[in-house]
Amino acid sequence: MKVRLITSATSPAKELVLGLAYSGKNPDLGVALQAAVKDAKKTGDLATKVRATSMFYPTGRKLPARMGFVGGGKRSEVTVDKLRRAAAVAFNLASSHEVKTFRLVVNQDDHKDLDAEVAGRALTEGLILGAYSYRKPSGDKPPTPHAQSAEILYTGGNGKGFRAGVQIGRIGAQATAFARDIENLPGNIATPRYLANQARKFKTPRLTVRIMNERDMQKHGMGALLGVSRGSREPAKMILMDYKPTGYKSTVCVVGKGLTFDTGGISIKPSANLADMRYDMCGGGAVLGLFHAIANGGMRGVKGKVRVVGVVPSSENMPDGDAQKPGDVVTACDGTTIEIINTDAEGRLILADALAYAKKIYKPRCMVDLATLTGAVVVALGHEMAGIMGSDDGLIQDLIEAGQECDEPLWQLPLWDVHRDQIKGKFADVNNLNSPAHGNGSTSGGAFLSFFTKGVPWAHIDIAGAAWGATAKDYYTSGAVGTAVRTLLHWVRGLK
Ligand code: BES
Ligand code: ZN
Ligand code: ZN
Repeated sequence: MKVRLITSATSPAKELVLGLAYSGKNPDLGVALQAAVKDAKKTGDLATKVRATSMFYPTGRKLPARMGFVGGGKRSEVTVDKLRRAAAVAFNLASSHEVKTFRLVVNQDDHKDLDAEVAGRALTEGLILGAYSYRKPSGDKPPTPHAQSAEILYTGGNGKGFRAGVQIGRIGAQATAFARDIENLPGNIATPRYLANQARKFKTPRLTVRIMNERDMQKHGMGALLGVSRGSREPAKMILMDYKPTGYKSTVCVVGKGLTFDTGGISIKPSANLADMRYDMCGGGAVLGLFHAIANGGMRGVKGKVRVVGVVPSSENMPDGDAQKPGDVVTACDGTTIEIINTDAEGRLILADALAYAKKIYKPRCMVDLATLTGAVVVALGHEMAGIMGSDDGLIQDLIEAGQECDEPLWQLPLWDVHRDQIKGKFADVNNLNSPAHGNGSTSGGAFLSFFTKGVPWAHIDIAGAAWGATAKDYYTSGAVGTAVRTLLHWVRGLK
């Protein structure tokens, strides 16, 4: 989907013109649509409710074939998410009428008290994400070939701010669509090698990409990651993406679990819904999405000089004659020994090496990791939000705020010494799992990771629920949501 911004209607839109339903007074709707608004208000047909739509077929020269409205709720109750949804509904309406292109007429009044940049971003995200559809590996034709180009006609306000919003909205939404694509791909296509090859494409003068292979991992003593990969014929990869602005003052590391298929290993999972375990790389998908955005100008105009390093440990988790076994003891690259209580708690193992390595090599001021780490977080929070925990409440709060501003909610869970004590080991420094008697699941995963991030402000985001399976919401349907790409981009852009 291509989104173009215009600030004056130099040429008329031929096929379809849409307005937001509270735009009754928008002068750029044109006389015909203004008249239609008047009539529709009389009959009560002006669709104002969220997601409602109405169409008019004006007759007269120079008028578009169709005009219509998309509802966004009450004008006085406009929110960012309502704007984003309204734009996605606009796309769906245009697509269902099989037009090639359409115009969305937006006036400053439509976003009321919301900042023009925020409104521009939300509307653009809604159009692009609403238009997203997964393409089957068999064919490259999009299932909905219609309405693949839209123009937003914006008038009456801070056009400069709105334009900046459209630009960053476009970058974030396209990066999210990219993440959705690789997340939805099956495990036999989206392998660790595939993810590494995607990352290689991000190379720009300021962004370097380095891929570690298993030999490199051996050299660095990454026994935890290599232990998970042992049972797999697909070689593991550690993807390192490094964005260095000139004169950078500090470094942040963003780490994502890139487990391309999780069978559980020797502690094998039941077969029901096992196909969903291709989504076990969505943490890595979010980090790759962030770097897709950065590679495409996502840090343009940002004043803070922060180096951003993305780390994606990527592996399969398979059962095999050579697979690691419960009871095995492995050593992570920082020397910490780990007893494998359950081979299905593998995400924390590959993250342990990634976090310990990132901490040692990049000396970051803070680290954030994202992972589909525990089924328990789905039980606790469901699919509409992710869990966040860590060692630094300031960092956690910043991420929660970034999530709020992108409508990707994060909910804090505790991470206390009592959780850390539960996984101290008898046969190794730490166990990769607490005893079932303790009951807690997600915080146990977080507690394990905390052993590898000591001394660095760190936050862990468990996206096992949020990454996929959320209730459809105009700008996402079934499958991967592409969660956290926009939030991460918003957060790194705001770093000072
Ligand atoms: N990839 C899973 C977590 C998961 C579960 C993600 C459901 C998405 C949906 C992770 O590697 C895992 O298997 N975790 C286990 C841990 C258990 C062995 C303590 C889990 O949550 O069941
Ligand atoms: Zn697992
Ligand atoms: Zn897993």
